[in-house]
Amino acid sequence: MHSLITLATLIVAASAARPFLNEPNTGLEEYLGAGFPVGKLPNLTDIRGIPDFDFAARNYLNASSYSFYRTGAAGEWSYRNNLEAFSRVRWRPQVLNDVHSLASTLPAPFFIAPAARAGLANDAAESNLVKAAYAGDILYIPAIYATLSIEQIAAVKPVNGSQILFQQLYAAANLTAVQNSLDRAKAAGSKAIVFTIDAPATSTRHRAARYGLGNANSDTATLTWALYAQLHNMTSLPIILKGTTTVDDVHKANSVGAPAIYVSNYGGGQLDGSPSPLEICLEIYESDPTLFQKTEIYADSGVRYGTDVLKLLSLGVRAVGLGRQFLYANAYGVAGVTHLIELLKTEIAADTANAGIQDVRKIQKERVNWNPLTTNGFRGEKEGVGAG
Ligand SMILES: Cc1cc2nc3c(=O)[nH]c(=O)nc-3n(C[C@H](O)[C@H](O)[C@H](O)COP(=O)(O)O)c2cc1C
Repeated sequence: MHSLITLATLIVAASAARPFLNEPNTGLEEYLGAGFPVGKLPNLTDIRGIPDFDFAARNYLNASSYSFYRTGAAGEWSYRNNLEAFSRVRWRPQVLNDVHSLASTLPAPFFIAPAARAGLANDAAESNLVKAAYAGDILYIPAIYATLSIEQIAAVKPVNGSQILFQQLYAAANLTAVQNSLDRAKAAGSKAIVFTIDAPATSTRHRAARYGLGNANSDTATLTWALYAQLHNMTSLPIILKGTTTVDDVHKANSVGAPAIYVSNYGGGQLDGSPSPLEICLEIYESDPTLFQKTEIYADSGVRYGTDVLKLLSLGVRAVGLGRQFLYANAYGVAGVTHLIELLKTEIAADTANAGIQDVRKIQKERVNWNPLTTNGFRGEKEGVGAG
């Protein structure tokens, strides 16, 4: 009898498992119909949510460009987990909590993360991202392996100097080259350097490798805390560390005076098995919530919805980045990137109100039920197993 009950429990658990959904069904494909031609972009007005850009890019881009953007590392478990971690924790909305004054005062707590080769989706490449970021009043961080040069990107900014860009950089064995990039970024008006520390080597990316595409950065670099200290002597710009995934490294970054820390697992593109930003930020919070006040913490990886942004903000994250979705939206040029920014702003405003939050900068951590991540962190991973 006992074993029958155990068996029944296992069967129920197995049938509760759900397949991983890279592209949640937003109804777009049914709406467009089976005859919608491959190679065509849906009308931008039919893009109703950020995940719709996944379908648009997959349908429109050639397979090699799409694979370069879409690929995750190895089994893509971290890529999947980044998306799924957000759905594992649910809201505890505070109802009857007057939120009517919110919408008009919202700042946009998100930015365009650095991502190489925007030119694979659109000939105007990064210039679309610069223009839309300016129009939408959000931060853009161009990648050093952008299609356009640092100077070409800077030339797109309005002449009044009001647009803020940060510049992403990798370490290289050749410090003269690094110095050169730091100087060029400063001369081009960048306000900070985003120094990527989670890519000391190339990574295992099957989807892209199939088309002969490696990482934009394939140098194996000698990344050390000593090098980080040395970089401070090479530029007057603040240097933000991108790719922090542990509490220990947040402490280290604090102790060496990092002006900001950027929690990221490279969108699951570097080390498969690295934790999602939500798990990392929760761990940081639980170790010491004041770490979010001691230094500014940004985060990215797997963000697709307004609620994803808000969940990260509730832990103390200052601003949240999106990588792939902006690359995909760029297939439509400036209009696509602008549309994504507007969609996310609209979602954030609505979600904030629906969760009963009065100030997006002061979301209480208690508005989210974190139990699934703290008490049964593996359950969601099991649920995530399936076709992708
Ligand atoms: C195609 C692609 C290229 C990227 N290139 C860079 C890069 O050059 N430098 C960097 O620091 N991060 C790079 N990233 C990582 C992003 O900055 C960001 O961490 C990641 O895309 C966030 O995950 P998301 O795509 O799920 O939003 C890249 C990501 C993608 C998908």
